[in-house]
Amino acid sequence: MLLRAAKGEEVERAPVWLMRQAGRVLPEYRAVRAKSKNFIEFVKNPELAAEVTVQPVDILGVDAAIIFSDILVIPEAMGLPYQMIEAKGPWFEKTLATQEDVDKLIITDGSNLQYVYDAIRLAKKQLDNRVPLIGFCGAPWTLLAYMVEGSGSKTFSKAKKFLYTQPKLAHQTLEKIAKSSINYLLAQVEAGANLIQIFDSWAGVLSPEMHKEFSLKYMNMICDEVSKKVPVTIFAKDAHFALAEIKNSSCSVVGLDWSVNPQEARKIIGSNKTLQGNADPCLLYASFDEIEKQTKQMLNAFGKDRYIANLGHGLYPDTEKEKVKFFVDCIKKHSYTKTPQTLHA
Ligand code: CP3
Repeated sequence: MLLRAAKGEEVERAPVWLMRQAGRVLPEYRAVRAKSKNFIEFVKNPELAAEVTVQPVDILGVDAAIIFSDILVIPEAMGLPYQMIEAKGPWFEKTLATQEDVDKLIITDGSNLQYVYDAIRLAKKQLDNRVPLIGFCGAPWTLLAYMVEGSGSKTFSKAKKFLYTQPKLAHQTLEKIAKSSINYLLAQVEAGANLIQIFDSWAGVLSPEMHKEFSLKYMNMICDEVSKKVPVTIFAKDAHFALAEIKNSSCSVVGLDWSVNPQEARKIIGSNKTLQGNADPCLLYASFDEIEKQTKQMLNAFGKDRYIANLGHGLYPDTEKEKVKFFVDCIKKHSYTKTPQTLHA
C-alpha cells in the first residue's frame, strides 16, 4: 500500500510510518541495544539490526519498515570514522579542512557496507512481504556538515564557512559523497530495499541559493540514478523554500516538516508527487484527544491520495509508546475515505 501511495496509485487509506521508528521509543529496542557494546557495533550486527528494523511493524503496526542503520556509515566508508557518544551524539576524530583531506576521501563502491545489505536481506526475510522496506542515506550536504564540523551543531557555521570560503573543495567533496551514496543505495536496492529516503536534516541552515547549489544538485544526482529502480523520497528539513525546486526533481515523494502548510505544499509541488509528513513530533506529548483532533486535521488537509502519513521529523526519545501507537491507529481509523467494498466494486 505504501509503495502504491509513493507511485501515485490508488490506495484504500493513507499508509503510515514514522521517522526514527526503529529505536528511540521502544523498550523492546533498548533490550536488543543492550546486547551491543556500543551503537556502532550494533549497527554493524546484521542480526540485531534486522530485529529492531522489524519491531515497529509488529509492535506499532506501521505500514513500512526502515532499515536500522545511520547516515554516518557513509563518511566512515569513505575514510572518516565516527563515534556515537552516549547522550551527546556523533563525534569525528578526523575532520575535513584542506585539499589533502578531501583527496584522501575514497569514493566507496559500496562493498565495505556489506553489513547493511546483510541486515536488509535478513529483515526482508522476517518481513515476508507484509510491508515494504525503506532504505536510506544522508544528503551529501548533511553528511559534509558532520564531516567538516566533526559533531552536531546548532548553526553548522564551520561547515557553512567551508562552503563560502572553499566552494571548489566543497563541490569536490559533495561529488565524492554523492557517487559513494549512489553505489551504496543501488546495493541496498539489490538487497531488497523497496523505496529510498534521502535525509537532508540540515537543509534549513542554508539560504535558498546555497541549498540549490550545494545540496539539491547532489540529491538530484543520487535521485536520478536511484529512481530508475525504486521510488525516492527527498526530505529537506526546514527547507520549505526549496519545494519549488524539488518539484522538478525525479523523486516520487517529498517529505515535509511541520512548519509547512499541507495545502500550500500541494499547490507548489503539483499533483505528480506524493507528500509525506508532517505532524510535529511534540504533538505526541499531548493528550489522546488532542492527538486525535490534530491527526484528523492533518489527514483532511492532505487528503487520501498521493499521501504518506508520518511525522515532520523523527520521534523524540522520551515519547510514550502508547501515544505513538495511538497516532498510528488514528491514521488507520480516520483516513478511510472509501470502504473496501467501493474500492473492489
Ligand atoms: O528511522 C529509523 O528509526 C532508522 C534508523 C536511523 C537512525 N538514524 C538510528 C539512530 C535513521 C534513519 C537515522 C538517520 C540519521 N542519523 C539522521 C537523519 C534523520 C534525522 O533525524 O534528521 C541524522 C541527522 C543522524 C545522525 C545521528 N545519529 C545523530 C545526530 C545521532 C544522535 C542523536 C539521536 O538522534 O539519537 C544518531 C544516533 C542514532 N541513530 C540513534 C539511533 C536509534 C540513537 C543512538 C542509540 O540508540 O544509542
